[in-house]
Amino acid sequence: MEKKSHSPIRVDLEKGKRYAWCTCSHSSDQPFCDGSHRAHNATPSMVFTAEETKEAYLCTCKKTGNPPYWDGSHNA
Ligand code: FES
Repeated sequence: MEKKSHSPIRVDLEKGKRYAWCTCSHSSDQPFCDGSHRAHNATPSMVFTAEETKEAYLCTCKKTGNPPYWDGSHNA
């Protein structure tokens, strides 16, 4: 079985642009949704709009208390 990393992924967000953050962990394009949740009958993506252009760390363990952003919850 494939071992999945729980490390956050750094992304460059662009103000006003919409992103689909993967909530199910099945995407091959982490931290973003690639549509794989449909084949797994899993939870759909969480769409969000970047409020500013910035570098951000997005959660990949899906346990964050502040989705889609990394908050260190995987270490808890
Ligand atoms: S593939 Fe995970 S939410 Fe779409």
